[in-house]
Amino acid sequence: HRKKQMDDLGAMNYSLTLLEQEECESVCARFLIDDFTTVPASQLTQMRREGLLDEENRPRLMREKHVQYLRKGLAGLSGGFVALDASRPWLVYWIIHALDLLEALDEDDDIKRRCISTLKACKSSGAFGGGPRQLAHLAPTYAATLALCCIGSNEAFEAIDRPALYAFLLSMKDASNGFRMHDDGEVDVRGTYTAIAVAALTNVLTPELVEGVAEYAASCQTYEGGFGGEPGVEAHGGYGFCAIATLCILDACHLVDLDALDAWVARRQTNIEGGYQGRANKLVDACYSFWQGGTAQLSAHARRGDPHHVEAPQGVRWRPGTTSASIPAATPIQEIVDPVKLQRYILLCAQVFPDGGLRDKPGKGRDYYHTCYALSGLSASQHPDCTAPATVSGSPANLLPRTHPAFNCRPEKVSRMLDHFSGLPDL
Ligand code: FPP
Ligand code: ZN
Repeated sequence: HRKKQMDDLGAMNYSLTLLEQEECESVCARFLIDDFTTVPASQLTQMRREGLLDEENRPRLMREKHVQYLRKGLAGLSGGFVALDASRPWLVYWIIHALDLLEALDEDDDIKRRCISTLKACKSSGAFGGGPRQLAHLAPTYAATLALCCIGSNEAFEAIDRPALYAFLLSMKDASNGFRMHDDGEVDVRGTYTAIAVAALTNVLTPELVEGVAEYAASCQTYEGGFGGEPGVEAHGGYGFCAIATLCILDACHLVDLDALDAWVARRQTNIEGGYQGRANKLVDACYSFWQGGTAQLSAHARRGDPHHVEAPQGVRWRPGTTSASIPAATPIQEIVDPVKLQRYILLCAQVFPDGGLRDKPGKGRDYYHTCYALSGLSASQHPDCTAPATVSGSPANLLPRTHPAFNCRPEKVSRMLDHFSGLPDL
């Protein structure tokens, strides 16, 4: 049946991909209302009552509902979440970083204490596994480190066994100078970014760990301009973020073609929907608001030459070091992506109405991963350039605090972790 359907579409010079794209555009267009006064009065009243619109009928971030949904995730999950049993540190990170962006974390000592206890239970071979007694793995190690960074207390930092963590990171380094996700696991730029981000935050970026790593990340750039997961494979926004964040942390963006990257990212912003797709000819998805939007921000940082500067504007601090050389842009990325369109996609298509939580696209359910990355992308697009004022679409109350584009945690939390670990002796 499928084969026949494809043949029929082919005969009409059509494809399933095109059909799905058109369907997606028309569904999103129904959510992207320009003037809400044209909506029937009863619906308008409901949208205002439930918090999707403000008193001037401007799209609104439903903060209270998102906070409620996020807190529920830390109170206990149903059996339906069994597939995420090896992603417990991720769940903790997605939820508490999202709460932090909504300014609903800092006052909650009970949540912080319980998260630290869960993360400690996931410790494995000096790093972290996906759950208690699970294999040490770079992905949950990154998630746990970022979650502890969001918590930001000495108790959180002390959950990290720095010498053992460093030994684990080094043992994951491959002869290609990429990093393997786990013992005997795959080598890709995701492993590379997670290892380098964790090492940067815990101040163990030794010459031995770092040697050749920037060259590995750079070698993942493809003819398309974006980056693949490993050399020679299709460019994808998730891996692009990993590559450029690694290069920014290592101050090595001069190794890649940033103009080609910017042009590739800009082409990933969808025309009708306004959100980003992950790769060419695929559908829009709210999580790429951060993977692609964060990449655009990182490219802009690299252009300004401020990635390492301790005094970087607005407290976006990386690690101690000198200002790197700036890399001029053919056209500034801020001029070729549209933050207002992206924010409208997040507010109108990704927010789940009326329950709260955010989703990939209309028709999908909410989940903690998309809630975290849609909010992170919203923040990134509101602060496209740390030297310029914020751009806020919809209600002015939608403004979120900044997120650090390389680590995706609030910059003041990154600073706190850097201060803690840079005060410790070298290994
Ligand atoms: C394609 O899925 C997606 C991937 C192969 C992985 C994407 C990578 C990330 C999101 C980044 C991971 C980052 C860290 C820090 C671990 P798909 O084919 O279902 O989606 P698509 O249609 O949107 O491409
Ligand atoms: Zn997604």
